[in-house]
Amino acid sequence: MKLWSRAVLVAAMVLTASCRFVEQDNGAQPASNGAAAIAPILNTADARDIHSFARPREARVHHVALDLAVDFDAKRIGGTATLDIQRRPEAKEIILDDKGLEIESITDGEGEPLAWKVGAADSNLGAPLAVALRPDTERLVIRYKSAPEAEALQWLTPQQTAGKKQPYLFSQGQAILNRTWIPTQDSPGIRQSWEAKIRVPAGLTAVMSAPRAAEPITQGGESLFEYRMANSVPPYLIAIAVGDLAFKPLGPRSGVWTEPAMLDAAATELADTEKMIDAAEKLFGPYLWERYDMIVLPPSFPFGGMENPNLTFLTPTFIAGDKSLVSLIAHELAHSWSGNLATNATWADFWLNEGMTTYATYRIGEAIYGPKYAAQQYALGVDSLNEEIGTLGGARAPDTRLHIDLKGRSPDHGLTEIAYEKGAAFLRTIEATVGRERFDAWLKGWFERHRFEPVTSAIFLADIRKHLVKGDAALERKLMLDEWVYQPGLPPNMVRPDRLAFTDVDRSVAGFARGAAPDTAAWSRWNTAERLRFLSKLPRKLPKARLDALNQAFGLNGVGNMEVRFAWLELAVGNRYDPAVPSLEQFLTTQGRRKFVRPLIKALAEDSSWGRPIAARIYPRGRPLYHPLVTGELDELKLGGG
Ligand code: BES
Ligand code: ZN
Repeated sequence: MKLWSRAVLVAAMVLTASCRFVEQDNGAQPASNGAAAIAPILNTADARDIHSFARPREARVHHVALDLAVDFDAKRIGGTATLDIQRRPEAKEIILDDKGLEIESITDGEGEPLAWKVGAADSNLGAPLAVALRPDTERLVIRYKSAPEAEALQWLTPQQTAGKKQPYLFSQGQAILNRTWIPTQDSPGIRQSWEAKIRVPAGLTAVMSAPRAAEPITQGGESLFEYRMANSVPPYLIAIAVGDLAFKPLGPRSGVWTEPAMLDAAATELADTEKMIDAAEKLFGPYLWERYDMIVLPPSFPFGGMENPNLTFLTPTFIAGDKSLVSLIAHELAHSWSGNLATNATWADFWLNEGMTTYATYRIGEAIYGPKYAAQQYALGVDSLNEEIGTLGGARAPDTRLHIDLKGRSPDHGLTEIAYEKGAAFLRTIEATVGRERFDAWLKGWFERHRFEPVTSAIFLADIRKHLVKGDAALERKLMLDEWVYQPGLPPNMVRPDRLAFTDVDRSVAGFARGAAPDTAAWSRWNTAERLRFLSKLPRKLPKARLDALNQAFGLNGVGNMEVRFAWLELAVGNRYDPAVPSLEQFLTTQGRRKFVRPLIKALAEDSSWGRPIAARIYPRGRPLYHPLVTGELDELKLGGG
């Protein structure tokens, strides 16, 4: 702000004193005065995003051009963001989302300074960045840097990578973290096309969630990479990774990036990718993003996967050596339709992204690995759904609704099995009620009608009624549509999982519970889903001798499959089983997937006499590996290391 001229300062003061926009009524578009019309953010405008300060009906960003350099020493990304905007002629300012950005200057397209002001910050949402508009302003050039603690970015030292020689950086935008490194309107209902020029130290490769726009150029110790996303995408899908990266093609339109040491293992695990793209296209319609590449990140990546367009981000913990965890790929790939083409307009309708994707994951699994596999996946999903409903307070708890109320809360509160598995069960139920053929025709139609658009629960229900129910009153009653979306719990028409999906496993669990020895032959025959079912159905309280028996029979402390290992460690911690502690320690200090780390650290911390001292030893050791969005929450347990 130092560089402001007096005139600009005065203008800024006038601006903040006099310009208070009244929220527009939903829907109505004002008569245009002949200036560029504002594209409606919604086809049926009925959603206001409480997690963004933007007021898109006044002025909205439609294209972002980044020109940035990555500084590993300072842990900053800096340069310019040029925003093309659409606005009402009378709009006096545009509001962007900003969380901790260090802004140096803002000018218009001609280099004339524009007044700007950062409003009061909220710890969750960040702050509104208001930029004054002149009557003819249609472009903003923001010179800025991200802060070293930007939550979207994780900076890894060479020690924290597989190769140990080069540093690494990756971003995670969903849900509302991209505002920590990109000054734009960070709302999923405000779609933007984008392009980026990225400068990194020579020897490193920068990849992004868009097609490459030019061959990389290396000069004077720096490499320049260019990417361009011609489609309009929600801004949470802008992503970057920088490191010592190598690429291996998997098929005509897919391939994998990762550190050289990981490349072969990653490519082997991902061998079914092209088959999955074909299966997804049969289900959803044509793949509209040209290529489907993936990047396998270092183990600190906090999620299983993230559906960044053209370039899914993946945890290395899905590599089991036998493709047993590749439903993750089917899931992220399916988001190329559900989420990336038709996008939840606000985080209250997150189920539209994840529930549809989870449903699609089962269908892709069925097409490639058969109906038995799919039935098992669905049954596991329903198990975890029921468990989640318990955790959330039972079948009447408000957060068990698909359309949820996030007022005053972070979008993270919606990241539950309700969105994923209740959403998928809803779609399974519609499918079973109308028949697969009719349902599949509707599904393709849904993506045709809503591609590159924000969608809401209301839009979804209206679309189902118009194109599937078509006034059939009996069908309408059978489907219980509103109950599914707006009421808590599970409606009575829900399709139950196949009771025979795990007959063999459930018999074995019952035997073990009655005192039988663990069935080693059965365990070695079982697939990953069956092993997970076995561990999750065991009595939650087991004496040491029984845990010893399991551990010795199945080698659980040393299991390489990370999902199975996690299920075992949860059971072990719940029973204060000391012989699992070294395995637990190794698990928590070599990967940082939130789904694994959070429940284990929390369970330890809550057990004050046995667990807490263990957590206090392990957490500070694991912490350097964990992503800011993991440590942000776990630091509150005061286990040290922060
Ligand atoms: N889009 C999600 C990840 C996400 C959701 C990140 C909300 C931030 C906020 C991704 O597609 C996902 O669901 N990942 C799952 C894997 C999947 C197989 C259930 C995960 O990371 O566990
Ligand atoms: Zn997902």
